[in-house]
Amino acid sequence: MPIRRAFAPATLFAIFLTLPAASQTPTLTSPPSAFPRAEDERALSDLQLLGKRLFEDTNLSEPKGQACSSCHDPKRAFQGNNRSPIAAVALGSRPGQFGNRKTPTIMYMAYSPAFGFAKDEDEGEDKLEARGGQFWDGRAADLVEQPSGPLMNPAEMNNPSADAVVEKVKAASYAPIMLAVFGPDAFADPKAAFQRVSQSLFAYEATERFAPFASKFDDYLRGKARLTPIEARGLALFVDPKRGNCLACHAGKPDSKDPTDWLLTDFTYDALGAPRNAAIPANADPLTFDLGLCQRPGLEAALPKSVPLASLCGAFKVPTLRNIAVRAPYFHNGAIATLRDAVAFYATRDTDPKRWYPTLKTGEPDKFNDLPSAYKANVNVEEVPYDRKPGQKPRLDDRDVDALVAFLNTLTDKGMR
Ligand code: HEC
Ligand code: HEC
Repeated sequence: MPIRRAFAPATLFAIFLTLPAASQTPTLTSPPSAFPRAEDERALSDLQLLGKRLFEDTNLSEPKGQACSSCHDPKRAFQGNNRSPIAAVALGSRPGQFGNRKTPTIMYMAYSPAFGFAKDEDEGEDKLEARGGQFWDGRAADLVEQPSGPLMNPAEMNNPSADAVVEKVKAASYAPIMLAVFGPDAFADPKAAFQRVSQSLFAYEATERFAPFASKFDDYLRGKARLTPIEARGLALFVDPKRGNCLACHAGKPDSKDPTDWLLTDFTYDALGAPRNAAIPANADPLTFDLGLCQRPGLEAALPKSVPLASLCGAFKVPTLRNIAVRAPYFHNGAIATLRDAVAFYATRDTDPKRWYPTLKTGEPDKFNDLPSAYKANVNVEEVPYDRKPGQKPRLDDRDVDALVAFLNTLTDKGMR
């Protein structure tokens, strides 16, 4: 696994410059139009309003009843589980249908670069690493490609085809907005119409609602709020390459006061060895494993020669830590219930593995038990803070974990519960 330095690579800043215009000036460009709007929709352009209507339309699932917002709840940082009886995985549009991964937040995701391999600046010129894309395994290149996933996924909105989705949009009360935005032929060609649906969803997902930069930490960066002593200590641990080293992956630019320099992810992938979650129905089969990035469809074709496919098994995308306090349970499989435990896992995964993994008959802990033996060696055991051996002192003690949690609590945007 690549060793990263504590600061965000310079190439990341290119991403901010290439952001679609919609997400840079999300709300002010829109001329008011005739379509009825709620108070908090006034600033949206017609295209963005169409995206919002699509996002919230519970008629778009098969059977009806589930919208994007059923799993991506605006009040909970646009994540959630559609009132699933299993906290970790969302309930699909049909009873008893569950996915096998936790719903990620989609806030700040318009800042993600498209999926690709980029130079790992810490390891010299030749080393390439996967970066960007949407989903835990980056399988959609970007937010325009992404919606076909949930709309057609049998464990989610379960539509038989893109054409079926287009038919529903055509019959929707907001179809006139689609015609106004894309012209009278908007529905003429189903393939093009589906593409327009995706574009509209993207336009909504790129608005300020999804990236308000309205947390206490953002106000602190702007010089408008003060961190308490424990929050400040948490921040110091977060950026310290010898203690938390969180910044190495949950990136930010220590010398910048600009909130957009603090997305708290570098959009790369890493294998953390999260414990297996027995509550996920698919895990009833002991031979079923979610291998993450290496199973991404189409990956082999995109793979640079220098990167062996098997080395990417067990790697998942680094999530942003913005709004992390309202996003329980934690990790791609939701195996860890509380934020404090998620942070404590980093501290003691290697010094006290029995706390996190079941014990084998031999009395040894079954470390990295959510991966088949062949891929356990992919788990990152070199990087601070999880570079310890059993019996060694953790890099973070209980008080440090408390301080980190206090800091992470400052990352919640106003209006989230
Ligand atoms: C049944 C719940 C459910 C519904 C409905 C749903 N999603 Fe998701 N969404 C998920 C889950 C689970 C994932 C992660 C899946 C994975 O990584 O394999 C996800 C991932 C995403 C991501 C990627 C975020 C990231 O961090 O990579 C985006 C964007 C997204 N969904 C948007 C949408 C849109 C737009 C819709 C409606 C067209 C939608 N979702 C409907 C559960 C849902
Ligand atoms: C080497 C890269 C790396 C470092 C260093 C790192 N993380 Fe992470 N973090 C990840 C990845 C990758 C995931 C997702 C892993 C998964 O779900 O399997 C993650 C997930 C998380 C999550 C759960 C997010 C969610 O949506 O469920 C939290 C909380 C978190 N990290 C906090 C921290 C803290 C606090 C530190 C510092 C003590 C830290 N991380 C250091 C890569 C890193």
